[in-house]
Amino acid sequence: MLEIRNLTKQYGDERAIDELSLSIDDGEFCTILGPSGSGKTTTLLSIAGHVTPTAGSIALEGTDLTDVPPEDRSLGIVFQQDALFEHMTARENVAYALGPHEGDWDRETRIDQFLSLVGMSDYADSYPEQLSGGQRRRIELARALVYEPDVLLLDEPLTGLDRQLRREMRAEISRIHEETNVTTVYVTHDQSEALTLSDRIAVLNEGACVAVGTPEALYEQPPNRFVTRFLGSVSTLPGTIVERSPLVVEWAGYRFELGAVDSEGVGDVPSVGDRFRLYCRPDAVRVEPSTGISVDGEVTDITHSGERSTVTIETTAGGQLRIATDGFPNVAVGETVTAGIDPDAVFGFAGDSRLCVSTASRAENATDG
Ligand SMILES: Nc1ncnc2c1ncn2[C@@H]1O[C@H](COP(=O)(O)OP(=O)(O)OP(=O)(O)O)[C@@H](O)[C@H]1O
Ligand SMILES: [Mg+2]
Repeated sequence: MLEIRNLTKQYGDERAIDELSLSIDDGEFCTILGPSGSGKTTTLLSIAGHVTPTAGSIALEGTDLTDVPPEDRSLGIVFQQDALFEHMTARENVAYALGPHEGDWDRETRIDQFLSLVGMSDYADSYPEQLSGGQRRRIELARALVYEPDVLLLDEPLTGLDRQLRREMRAEISRIHEETNVTTVYVTHDQSEALTLSDRIAVLNEGACVAVGTPEALYEQPPNRFVTRFLGSVSTLPGTIVERSPLVVEWAGYRFELGAVDSEGVGDVPSVGDRFRLYCRPDAVRVEPSTGISVDGEVTDITHSGERSTVTIETTAGGQLRIATDGFPNVAVGETVTAGIDPDAVFGFAGDSRLCVSTASRAENATDG
């Protein structure tokens, strides 16, 4: 549906987008996720035709867009900055986007339908200054969707909304996507938004696309360190290489043998004695020593989100371990606890290869506890 190939945008010495390629399917909800300055808006504006790429191409349904002006691209866009006309009512804002039309449908009915889609029928005659942040965003969505574009482009549409409203609007965007099934490119720096909303996520770092995949695949099998750290929470365990072939890393009195996930094999491995970072997600750790790897530490922090909590412990072996618990945990800051880690959930990287633990065992010289 939307095919981006080797897109590059250079601003003077600065490369805002670096050979970015991405294909988006019809009806797909694809999120471009990356930290501030990673090139998300520049990518979106290039698709929209408001930024002229330095190199590369963008095609919509097989048609190269290079020479197609923005207004002829059949795209609905919600910009990062609020862009409603203040002197027009909500209804007039939506009507303006529809432009003059010669169709066999009724213009006013169409406007009503989209105001209703975003839950704003009762505010049709309000001016933007009379609307809340969330309501303005809804009108912007109606405006972007009213002429039924082929692709909807959303640039951080939840910016500036409070937490509760962000959650509500997130659900609304999901519902609207389900109802309209419009191909959507959604830009955000918020990983939880990306994980919740998307069919697929493209992760950007310094203008380059460093991973593309479903939320589940990227979270559970992050292909590189950047995605590991950027998407979801992770603990870094500072291990030491004790053998190179097979690769064995020691941490907390355990030996972890690591193997490559794909057929390309283990990439460049540093020397014996070098540091090697192991990673594990908080949901692979429990606050009681289960059958896995047991590690002692002191609780240094607890955060609650109601249904879930995260306990951070400073391990005696070195490194902070984050633990996800359902509900409120039975431990307090300052307490000494033993945590259990599922060894199958421990992973690492060598060069570009993702490595998983094949076996984990007590190191021979390890002392109990
Ligand atoms: N018009 C411009 N002129 C010069 N540099 C620009 C211009 N627009 C963007 N840049 C640079 O390109 C890089 C990418 O910017 P972009 O706005 O695409 O980032 P972003 O991922 O959308 O960030 P944010 O999350 O803060 O919105 C930044 O380093 C930015 O300073
Ligand atoms: Mg931006």
